[in-house]
Amino acid sequence: MFLKPTDILKDEHVEIKRMLTILNIIIEKINYGEKISPEVLEKIINFFRIFTDRCHHWKEEKILFPSLEEVGIPRYGGPIGVMLMEHEEGRRYVKNMVEAVEKYRRGLEDALGEFKENAVNYVALLDQHIYKEDNILFNLADQHIPLSRQEEIMHSFKEFEERESKGEHEKQLQILKRLEVEYLRE
Ligand SMILES: [Fe+2]
Ligand SMILES: [Fe+2]
Repeated sequence: MFLKPTDILKDEHVEIKRMLTILNIIIEKINYGEKISPEVLEKIINFFRIFTDRCHHWKEEKILFPSLEEVGIPRYGGPIGVMLMEHEEGRRYVKNMVEAVEKYRRGLEDALGEFKENAVNYVALLDQHIYKEDNILFNLADQHIPLSRQEEIMHSFKEFEERESKGEHEKQLQILKRLEVEYLRE
């Protein structure tokens, strides 16, 4: 069966949700007053910066969404505009988490709480964002983007991975697996 661009993006959503599960466990630990090493927090943040934002959101923003515009779905005032705004909102939470971890490293007391607040917002944002893409926007893409164009998009995805990701994508998935071994077995 023909593999569609939205299949690739949905698979990436599964990986992103796995890291959100880890982040939820971290949030719970912070709630219980447990100390978390800044290195672990940095690994999680890096995954969201590299895998979620650079690899995944790039494919959506630069390749899939413009193809949806080509078939008449407007960028502004509709679902694409909402998705773009949510990507920006996510970037702000990630930036705040980075800053909070820097403060945490310097020993500032409230920094872990600041990290947690942004992490909670980020999880909630991405959960519903992924749901809307999986169930609404990607259906529009499957139905309206002609098959020949979908094949071209698949090619662009592959080209992008080879050009930009340089193994970084795989490296991030390995980090995810190691964090799962560490945090899901407890
Ligand atoms: Fe998205
Ligand atoms: Fe997505």
